[in-house]
Amino acid sequence: MPERAEHAFAPAQKDDDFAASVFDGLSRPLKSLPCRFFYDSIGSALFEEITRQPEYYLTRAEIAILEANAPEMLGGELSGGILIEFGSGSSIKTEILIRLMPRLRAYVPIDISESALLEAKRRLTSRFPRLDVRPILGDFSHPVALPPEFERLPKLGFFPGSTIGNFPPAEAAQMLRMMRLTLSSGGRLLIGVDLKKDARQLVRAYNDAKGFTAAFNLNLLARINRELGGTFDLNAFRHRATYEPLEGRITMHLVSTKEQAVELDGARIQFSEGETIHTESAYKYTIDEFRRVSRSAGWLPQRVWTDPDNLFSVRELV
Ligand code: SAH
Ligand code: AVI
Repeated sequence: MPERAEHAFAPAQKDDDFAASVFDGLSRPLKSLPCRFFYDSIGSALFEEITRQPEYYLTRAEIAILEANAPEMLGGELSGGILIEFGSGSSIKTEILIRLMPRLRAYVPIDISESALLEAKRRLTSRFPRLDVRPILGDFSHPVALPPEFERLPKLGFFPGSTIGNFPPAEAAQMLRMMRLTLSSGGRLLIGVDLKKDARQLVRAYNDAKGFTAAFNLNLLARINRELGGTFDLNAFRHRATYEPLEGRITMHLVSTKEQAVELDGARIQFSEGETIHTESAYKYTIDEFRRVSRSAGWLPQRVWTDPDNLFSVRELV
């Protein structure tokens, strides 16, 4: 894969523990799989489809917030500094910021999806030929080593999409603490966080009518079949996403529609009818709840921008 070396500078800890994590998660009494494994090239493409679905308000609301407020968010340009994005995916939202930063020294997208990084780099390099794009392929939940020449430069962190919501609050705080170290003192973070709202609207966002979210969820089993030689019958599992108001979270599961056994590298994994695999949580916050999470991670919450319907928030942490 000749293009891999092009962006593999000092990768954050590369996530090559797919097999171990799958065995571990499927051996537990309550089966689960880590949601970071959704994003192989097919999963990343399915996520982009989800963002275009009418039910998935998150992406549209966040883009509207960025378009209306980016000059104020940037507060003058990050001249000669670097923009670091965590879980950058397609980097489409980032373009709204990059357009306003002609003197940016470099853009560092960090993601575990190689296909997403390659595609984003290709597009950004053609749209912003003078921009130094330095992708890092790796897991942002581990410390990220930046190219040494960037260490002393001013840094702006960007963490959109409400990806922080995919971690329980204590883990989210731990991650924010680590990002603070990556951005070093004086760094600022702009972070997108989905807001609590009517449960029906939340449930619809994770059950789109065309079935892209279901396909995204089931792709995890397809990926296990492709990469680990598993024998999951995709027709014998169905997608389920519900809202748990006490926890303030959407939970996604794959539900076994019958009693069955799946072979995986010589092991036999038994499922009873109705048994589930937990695949993702998406925590939703009020403005104040997320302020508390940020403070517990050592950040000082500053401004908050929302869309006119109060669906989504972008926050500034210093
Ligand atoms: N920022 C984009 C994409 C959000 S989807 C947006 O707002 O639309 C979440 C992205 O985070 C995916 O591209 C996925 O590959 C990446 N991701 C998820 N878990 C990750 C992890 N632990 N480390 C690095 N990237 C991760
Ligand atoms: C990336 N993350 C914030 C998305 C979310 O909304 O939790 C992933 C997703 N899962 C189902 N649909 C979208």
